[in-house]
Amino acid sequence: MRHLLEPTNLSVKEIDQIMERALDIIAHREKYAEACKGKKLATLFFEPSTRTRLSFTAAMMELGGNVLGFSDANSSSVSKGETIADTIRVISCFADIVAMRHPKEGAPWIAKNYSGVPVINAGDGGHNHPTQTLTDMLTIKRELGHFDHLTIGLCGDLKYGRTVHSLIKAMSRYEGTRYVLISPKELQLPSYMTEEMKRDGIPFKEVGSIEEAMPELDVLYMTRVQQERFADKAEYERLKLAFILDEAKMKYGKKDMIVLHPLPRVGEITEGVDNDPRAAYFRQVENGKFVRMSLILTLLDWRDQKDNIIDPEEIQMEGATCKNPHCITTKEAVRQRFYVDEKGVKRCMYCDNEV
Ligand code: CP
Repeated sequence: MRHLLEPTNLSVKEIDQIMERALDIIAHREKYAEACKGKKLATLFFEPSTRTRLSFTAAMMELGGNVLGFSDANSSSVSKGETIADTIRVISCFADIVAMRHPKEGAPWIAKNYSGVPVINAGDGGHNHPTQTLTDMLTIKRELGHFDHLTIGLCGDLKYGRTVHSLIKAMSRYEGTRYVLISPKELQLPSYMTEEMKRDGIPFKEVGSIEEAMPELDVLYMTRVQQERFADKAEYERLKLAFILDEAKMKYGKKDMIVLHPLPRVGEITEGVDNDPRAAYFRQVENGKFVRMSLILTLLDWRDQKDNIIDPEEIQMEGATCKNPHCITTKEAVRQRFYVDEKGVKRCMYCDNEV
């Protein structure tokens, strides 16, 4: 069966199909009211969520299906030490499809290897959040009408912001995409991302302020600084409001640009911006439900297709361990696995960090 762990598990053509189906769902809601009758979605949330979990729930309910699961690891047997592998084997006996969020990077890659049903990554640490990307893309489609030749500003926590990592992976496949990066030095994109962008010839530049970036942007993608990923809370306090979008800065933007934010926001967009018609972040939330309806239907349709997630060739590194404190290997006793990227850098198979 097929899974969705990161956006590139879907081809550009498949993303187009998911977008078209989401638009059809919006136009003909009644047609889909029983599309998942008798089916069950399991939502396994080992980390807090409002939008993702509830939009998955609402999506399955609008498709006429049922939902089971947990919203807190402490209310599951994980709190007794059960592994992800065993948890997912068990859930596969109860549900037809799984949406899973985990604080550790790479956790869904373990889940999909043991699952009897399609696994959707609903966010793994600071690594990936592919259904947020589908949400962002449906919003871009509805607001701007196309994915080609867009200049996208990415602002805030680009290091831990998993939504940013997934959006770059997806949008870099379209003609003429350019990025303008706006972040504190400490929260710049991880090197595995910038190396990949350089390798693929994706244009990007770094600027020091929102005002400087604003005039050339088609999309400004704001993110919050991810408090939960910081080991040093003083460092978080110092960086949390390094970049704030307010009404004064909106004046520098084009008339037809849009502002997106995966939410929650914690001060990086002032409420004064909400009334600007270019502020699309609450419309973006509703799109999340429609695109997840489309994704659930599509993955259930693809049950008989072969898993297309191919791991890079594994290399042997006797005694080596991944040093990323956010990697799933620091939490569960899984086998350490490594690969070499195109630049010859050795990386962890689960979280992609350099070892
Ligand atoms: N955008 C997003 O992932 O929000 P939640 O953390 O509330 O799910």
